Amino acid sequence: MKKTIIAAMALVALGSAGISQAAEDPKVLADEAKGIVKAFMKELKGTLVPTMKEKGPAAAIDVCHKKAQEITARYNKDGWKVGRTALKLRNPKNAPDAWEKATMEMFEKKIAEGADPKKLAKFEIVEQDGKKVFRFMKAIPVGKPCLTCHGGKVDPALYEKIKSYYPEDKAIGFKLGQLRGAFTLSKSLN
Ligand code: HEC
Repeated sequence: MKKTIIAAMALVALGSAGISQAAEDPKVLADEAKGIVKAFMKELKGTLVPTMKEKGPAAAIDVCHKKAQEITARYNKDGWKVGRTALKLRNPKNAPDAWEKATMEMFEKKIAEGADPKKLAKFEIVEQDGKKVFRFMKAIPVGKPCLTCHGGKVDPALYEKIKSYYPEDKAIGFKLGQLRGAFTLSKSLN
């Protein structure tokens, strides 16, 4: 009888250790992060692309300006902080911190060396203010539809509109396949 109780207790102890380990397993967290990015990206594209097609890029800028931050805010849940950032920014609210900046510089270096930007991601558990934080980034390459608003030949009237919302815009002059920015996610572990 006693033995069974001890065995049961040992199992409970093992079980909870197993759970907390899984909660801090970087690979498990990275998979969760990838899932969030997928849904987030789908929703952003699902908002932008139909407006571009039906109403044109000027209307798409209105939608992007209104919705991008709103959609981003909605993905901040279950302990996750979710966002988009870049080295050359459109919205200063999306500014990177030191870890994000260093990671994007690493992505740019890898792209210059021939890496496929679609496959670039990085995750790591770091210490921040005495706390363990899981951090994840996934590169966002420049695709063809992005050039209308981020390329080298943005229509002057359209750019005037962009500038009216984002007077400090630096997110133009991009070429196909370059690094536009990155999805960035973090989760506090204790
Ligand atoms: C209709 C114009 C338009 C198109 C097309 C467009 N963007 Fe943007 N982009 C914007 C606007 C406006 C913002 C600022 C959103 C905000 O306020 O957060 C932005 C912001 C971003 C950001 C966030 C970082 C920053 O600089 O503030 C990234 C990353 C980004 N765009 C990538 C892309 C990619 C990749 C594509 C192509 C798939 C694309 N964009 C297509 C207008 C556009």
